[in-house]
Amino acid sequence: MSKCPFSGAMSTPLTASNGAPVANDNQSRTAGARGPVTFDNHYLFEKLAHFNRERIPERVVHARGSAAYGTFTLTKSLSEFTIADFLQQEGQQTNIFLRFSTVGGGQDSSDYARDPRGFAVKFYTQQGNWDMVGNNTPVFFLRDGIKFPDFIHSQKKNPRTNLPDPQAVYEFWANNPQSLHQSTILMSDRGIPLSYRHVNGYSSHTLSFWNKAGERYWVKWHFKTNQGIKTLTNEQAAKMPAFGAQQDLIESIDNGDFPSWTVKVQLMSEEEAKTYAINPFDLTKVWPHSDFPLMEIGQLELNKNVDNYFAETEQAAFAPSNLVPGIGASPDRMLQARLLAYQDAQRYRVGANYNQVPVNAPRCPVHNYQRDGAFAGINPALAGAGANFYPNNRANQGEPAEVVAAAEPPMPLEQDAWLDIYDTRDEDNFSQAGALFRLMSEDQKNQLANNIADGLSQASEDVQQAMYAKYEQADKEYAERVKQAVADRTR
Ligand code: HEM
Repeated sequence: MSKCPFSGAMSTPLTASNGAPVANDNQSRTAGARGPVTFDNHYLFEKLAHFNRERIPERVVHARGSAAYGTFTLTKSLSEFTIADFLQQEGQQTNIFLRFSTVGGGQDSSDYARDPRGFAVKFYTQQGNWDMVGNNTPVFFLRDGIKFPDFIHSQKKNPRTNLPDPQAVYEFWANNPQSLHQSTILMSDRGIPLSYRHVNGYSSHTLSFWNKAGERYWVKWHFKTNQGIKTLTNEQAAKMPAFGAQQDLIESIDNGDFPSWTVKVQLMSEEEAKTYAINPFDLTKVWPHSDFPLMEIGQLELNKNVDNYFAETEQAAFAPSNLVPGIGASPDRMLQARLLAYQDAQRYRVGANYNQVPVNAPRCPVHNYQRDGAFAGINPALAGAGANFYPNNRANQGEPAEVVAAAEPPMPLEQDAWLDIYDTRDEDNFSQAGALFRLMSEDQKNQLANNIADGLSQASEDVQQAMYAKYEQADKEYAERVKQAVADRTR
């Protein structure tokens, strides 16, 4: 590579995007001392045009986030359950990238919203990237992806006023009793984390493992914060700077105080799943630990901040469909909807070749017959000079060929499965919400009722009544406390 003749100067030469040195970055070229700019100001035009294109669409949900790199260390081999290559040898380390986020707010909203926190981990394994795109809650508001856009619309700002809309929030929940378990968690004292270091992470969904023998196990992942869960009340949160969680993460890592999580899994065999009282693929339910104990398998540590927020955190593309041999999906309907949604969003948000952006690029070689598209060759190794079709006769010349050994065992279906629309209205939406309420201390029950009443007191009478009926089905006392807290606000 020849050296730029100007690089011998004291400082790095400033260049235009074509690499040519720029002689003046302070003044435009003008026709005389007081005259207009001339048309040969191509560097000015380049600068302004690039500035106009500095933004990409923000994520439609989870727009506000913070991320860092780190390491996952396996402390217990899972070779009995999975062929996933990063889960074989105790002591094995895998590089990861973890992005935390709030859900509903835009990119410049507050870190202290009462909102779930996203907990998305990219494991750069030797057999491809595995993304665990979870939240800080073990369940979710919905059990069918068809409801997701409606749900998100109801929680975001009102389309006319662009203001928060408690009527819509509770009107959606009043019409969707399946949300009660998650909304109880959200409105509890756990609803506003002190920082990202103080949240747990969960796959929430049931995923799967499969082993050498082709046996499948259903799996839920848990990442327990070693910093302890710490939360804020509404009053405490209101006093925090909007960027507080971002600052906390950056500073703790810069100071060498690396946050970490103990990683655990719950496992259920296919046989157990067939007869277990709770539908194991219902995202609104937990698997009680007494039935499926947590098995500790590793430690996850964050130890390196990003160098550039936009290039890494903003362009990061996590997807539940980023799976590796040994880790699969499950029949969870929400998860299935997500298998499509994320890559679709990222093609729009970042572009067709988003997986070539360094933060997303697998750390193992990528060989395939996908070609071209905007910015193809960001990663030159993927430009692809060889055959661009498959099958071909060139396997012995190094052209990629299928890896039959990586085939996933067949996904079991219920016997006599019929394609239809299954109404899940009759599923039990209330037992686990009631059980959670009964576990709470007096102070926690008060916080829950008051947090609910803040919004519910602004909703219409019919929505209030519908919500009381739901709280009552979870626990009579739950309903009584909420009614009282609403009455205190409307008196
Ligand atoms: C059918 C239901 C769902 C749909 C359609 C959906 C869709 C989306 C979309 C389109 C994005 C933005 C992706 C991007 O632009 O990169 C996103 C981000 C995210 N979603 Fe979901 N989502 C669903 C349910 C869930 C659930 C149940 C969880 C957690 C258990 C979850 C966790 C996340 C997280 C953590 C992010 C941010 C990832 C990041 O940090 O970049 N989502 N979701």
